Amino acid sequence: MMNEKLSRRGLLAGLGTASLLAPFSRASAFIESFETSSAKPFRVAFLTDMHIMDAPVRADEGIAFTLDHLSKQEVQPDLIIVGGDNLTGTMGRDLAGATSMRDRWTKVFRDKVKGPVLYCAGNHDHWGWNKTGSKSTGNEPLWGKNFARDMLQLDKLYYSVERGGWKFIVLDSVQPFESRYIGGLDAEQWEWLKGEIKSDLPTVITSHIPITGISPLVVDGTPGETSHAVPFGSTFKNMYDVVALIADHSNVKLALSGHIHFEESVTFSGTTYWNGGAVSGAWWLTSTADANRRTQRNPGPIPRLARANPGYSLLDLSPNGEFKIQQVASGWKGATSR
Ligand SMILES: [Fe+2]
Ligand SMILES: [Fe+2]
Repeated sequence: MMNEKLSRRGLLAGLGTASLLAPFSRASAFIESFETSSAKPFRVAFLTDMHIMDAPVRADEGIAFTLDHLSKQEVQPDLIIVGGDNLTGTMGRDLAGATSMRDRWTKVFRDKVKGPVLYCAGNHDHWGWNKTGSKSTGNEPLWGKNFARDMLQLDKLYYSVERGGWKFIVLDSVQPFESRYIGGLDAEQWEWLKGEIKSDLPTVITSHIPITGISPLVVDGTPGETSHAVPFGSTFKNMYDVVALIADHSNVKLALSGHIHFEESVTFSGTTYWNGGAVSGAWWLTSTADANRRTQRNPGPIPRLARANPGYSLLDLSPNGEFKIQQVASGWKGATSR
């Protein structure tokens, strides 16, 4: 299980006096809801979509670069939340390929990060649902979500903890469907969430796939004559139920997600739905190279928009429920091809 110890300092290995001299990071987006709170906020770094990859895009180096960047922040995080998609294409790889990726991610991440982390599983963190591609039967011990549970050292992929005067709910938002996946909650987790969401503490919900937002519509939507269709691979199949539940619980201040590789903030009914972009940006390509590649592979009816710059989010959470968020560009330069 996760490390239960909390340390205000030294979350990342290598943090030292150099961090005091390093230039403060560029913030490409910034929102805030508090001005006068006197208590020291609880700082969370949200890192999502690290995407270890096969291709020569130097993913391992990019992840290490990002973690080094974070270690130079003047105010260090008290907690890191990992938003999922640590790996790439795991669902359809053979076990040797999947475990090789897992070992690479484990090495680069755990070499650098020594403090408390909340892990959220992404669609690329499960193994074998594509049985043909993965050459699996479904009976292997690491098949399906067991692969992510093993990598993330979690018995359950949805859970909650209380830290810094806030409640953190982590959802398992990826469900098997045919030989792939859809976003949302299964019946058991939905029942659990309806109880778990009740809290006197201000609350952050994290899901890999966005519960809702504009990105799924503008990135993956299909324009129609009288409405636009959004696939369940991009958002929750039970979006309406979950959004309504959150709207009924004013303690839920933030809903974090990744998956789409877009930076986004949508405040609806008192809750800010924040998409943290991606550590890998456009899967370690430049945005232009990624958009061109996607257009060539699948022209589609809508333009391919430029994805997030490589980076991560810093959240400063005040015990009274107010918060600030800044999106930090790591400065990693994407590759022009893979
Ligand atoms: Fe991703
Ligand atoms: Fe994803």
